[in-house]
Formats: sequence, structure tokens, C-alpha cells
Amino acid sequence: MSTTAPERADPGRNAALAAVLLAGTVVALTVGVYAKLHEPARRPLFTLGFSGMLQMKAWLTTFAAALLIIQLVTALWMWGRLPGAGHAPGWAALLHRWSGSAAFVLTLPVAFHCIWALGFATVGARVVIHGLAGCVFYGAYTSKMLGLRTRTLPGWTLPVFGGLVLASLVAVWLTASLWFFTRSGVPLT
Ligand code: HEM
Repeated sequence: MSTTAPERADPGRNAALAAVLLAGTVVALTVGVYAKLHEPARRPLFTLGFSGMLQMKAWLTTFAAALLIIQLVTALWMWGRLPGAGHAPGWAALLHRWSGSAAFVLTLPVAFHCIWALGFATVGARVVIHGLAGCVFYGAYTSKMLGLRTRTLPGWTLPVFGGLVLASLVAVWLTASLWFFTRSGVPLT
């Protein structure tokens, strides 16, 4: 007969998890609903030295997606899942934090132009998946940031939120930047 005590449901922990999930859902829905309801401006507000809005968005998203490689490697290292790498040094957490913050900041001017200038378009599967992935990205990022500061959450939550942030940005890159770079007849920079 097993002598292990059954794991008790912890109401405080469940409430914290529900609050973090709710905050992420509210952010994702707010982004999506605003993008759908407002009239797209159909022009850029700035292009940051790029030749056009598409070019700026495609490249900034690519820089953000490239930083995800650092995010993934440092996350695996901190969680002891990087084969043969041993214990992660203190700077791995710092690198994770700053590369993640930089990637997030890079997405902001891009998403602003998506939401404000284009809105939530439904002209095909790629574009719909792109809009949904963009909304999920900001929702998952919200939940992850709150999760980092909520000590009572179950251990699985941070890797799951982090994985969702990563996967949604990869989906955004595939459905927008990769699509843009593989189109012919448009200047790349
Ligand atoms: C992480 C956030 C996001 C990033 C990094 C991102 C990135 C991009 C990029 C690089 C493009 C291609 C350039 C262009 O067509 O202008 C694009 C297009 C677009 N984005 Fe986003 N996006 C994000 C979120 C969103 C959201 C939240 C929405 C709407 C809910 C959205 C809607 C669109 C639309 C409608 C297009 C045009 C697609 C087409 O017609 O091909 N994006 N995005």
C-alpha cells in the first residue's frame, strides 16, 4: 500500500493560476477585438529607416525571432535540460531576461502597425493564423510576466507560458516575414 499523501488542491494556488490566465486572455482578446473593430489606417506612422512598412515589419520580426534562439537555449539551460551543459551560470538568467525584453520591444512597432494600419484581416488561412498568433503572443507574454512574479503557481506554468510565447512568435514569423521574404518583386530592405 502506498504511504504517499494525496496531493491536496490548494485554493490559493488555483486562484493565482486563474488570475494569471484571465489577465493573458483579456490582453489577447483586447488586441484582437480592437484590431477587428477599428477602421484600418492603411498607412505607416513611421518606417525607422526602412524603405517601407512591410520591410520594417518583416526585418524587425526576424530580429525578434532570432533572439528566440537565445531564449530557448538559456531557458533549457536554466531548467537543467541542456544536454552536457551542467548547471547554468548566473549570467544565463540575465541573458534570458534581456534578450527576451529586446525581442518583445522589437515586436511593439510591428504589432502597432499590424493592428492600427491593417487590423484583423480574414482574407485566407495564413492571414487569420497570423492575426490569431499575434494575439496569443501578447496574451501569453502577459501571463508569463505575471507568472514570474507569482510565487505560488505550479511548476509547469512558466515553461508552458514561455513555450506559448515562443511558439506564437515563430508562427507570426512564418506567416508574415517568411511569406514576405519568399515573395518575388518586392524590395527586401
Ligand atoms: C507579435 C506581434 C506581431 C508581429 C511581430 C507581426 C508581424 C507582421 C509582419 C512581419 C507582417 C508582414 C508585413 C506586412 O504585410 O505588413 C505582418 C502582416 C500583417 N499582420 Fe502582423 N504581426 C503581429 C501581430 C498582429 C496582430 C495582433 C494582428 C491582428 C490581429 C496582425 C495583423 C496583420 C495583417 C492583417 C497583416 C497583413 C497580412 C497580409 O495581408 O499578408 N498582426 N505582421
